[in-house]
Amino acid sequence: MKLLLKNAKKLSSASEEETCEVLIVDNKIAEVGKSIQVTADQTIDCEGNLLLPGFIDVHIHLREPGGEHKETIKTGTKAAARGGFTTVCAMPNTNPVPDDVQSVRSLLEKIQTEAEVRVLPYAAITKGLQGTEITDISKLSQEGVFAFTDDGVGIQTADFMLQAMKQAAATGKAIVAHCEDNSIVYGGVMHDGEVSKKLGLPGIPSLSESVQIARDVLLAEAAGCHYHVCHVSTKESVRVIRDAKKAGIHVTAEVTPHHLLLDEMAVKEDNANYKMNPPLRAVADKEALLAGLLDGTIDFIATDHAPHAEDEKAKGFQGAPFGIVGLETAFSLLYTHLVQTEKCSLQQLVDWLTVRPAEVFNLPYGKIVEGIAADLTLVDLKKQNKINKNSFFSKGKNTPFHEWEVQGVPVLTISEGKIAYKEDEHE
Ligand code: DOR
Repeated sequence: MKLLLKNAKKLSSASEEETCEVLIVDNKIAEVGKSIQVTADQTIDCEGNLLLPGFIDVHIHLREPGGEHKETIKTGTKAAARGGFTTVCAMPNTNPVPDDVQSVRSLLEKIQTEAEVRVLPYAAITKGLQGTEITDISKLSQEGVFAFTDDGVGIQTADFMLQAMKQAAATGKAIVAHCEDNSIVYGGVMHDGEVSKKLGLPGIPSLSESVQIARDVLLAEAAGCHYHVCHVSTKESVRVIRDAKKAGIHVTAEVTPHHLLLDEMAVKEDNANYKMNPPLRAVADKEALLAGLLDGTIDFIATDHAPHAEDEKAKGFQGAPFGIVGLETAFSLLYTHLVQTEKCSLQQLVDWLTVRPAEVFNLPYGKIVEGIAADLTLVDLKKQNKINKNSFFSKGKNTPFHEWEVQGVPVLTISEGKIAYKEDEHE
């Protein structure tokens, strides 16, 4: 099967306007050139839009198995494709938790039949994410899991984290950490700051995150493992990670679009579409996150796509679960609010969504080069859009960005040579 993409543009260091054509043969990129003369089975006119490597999101929640009323592998990966993502890594806070060989194998089988884009599942660090018994990291690492995490909860004791890191180091897989010291969360539901006081809601102190990262970077140094920090949200966390990198510790980190674009001031009322963990922090934190991304302290962007049912999210800050969706809005929001405002270049944004996560986790994706899987995303940078949660492919409508005006929209997503999303076919 030969698929030819004609009349596209590609990003180049000289200009955005370089003409580009790509020939895909048997799901791989066979040729990249200015004008490819070949008889293809299918030809797509890219209409002068910008062709990018498929986006990679190492932090999403698909909810299946066990939470299918919130999302399924099918709906979550359709949402991913619409957002331009061709590789997504699924967090293990499902029911059952992928914490043994059988549950991982059954998850991989479901992914095989259901997924519209590539899904790389995590396995848990502790059994049932309970923090009381470490999983068989060595055995699980041979089952095709992406890395190990207890995302949703922090690992509370240094002893457990150290043991897990030592085992992970021996396998070459990363420990990916949701950092939260429960002893200083105090039942908080939003950032402990000006707005929590005004709204009378219990606050989550910044320290609950940074103190655990500080512990973990020292443990990672001792264990010699790759330690990756999920959804960094505070300026102190950025500082600790920056210092650890300077000391030569193998630490990497991600930040979400919402922590880059919003802060506690966005929370005007008791609306749980602004409730996520970690919470939206202070303005100074938001600024430190962007500075950290720009100077390489934070390696890339991940959405933490966390769908929940509408009735659950209607319960307000005290009753609703943490989390917001992100796959279908990430690129447009970031292009509009970081690139168009000249806070970063388009090349930087693309790198944070493609080649950087690939490099950090040694994935053979994230580039447009001959010989690798044809994972490609076409974006129309001129197209304007008003975000409409009711049009999401995701079952989750829990977004604080409903009705935001954005520009720059993924219009075609090709995952391993197959069309996973094409705008005109879905409108
Ligand atoms: O906001 C969040 N939602 N943070 C997490 O760590 C977990 C996630 C979820 O699973 O809903």
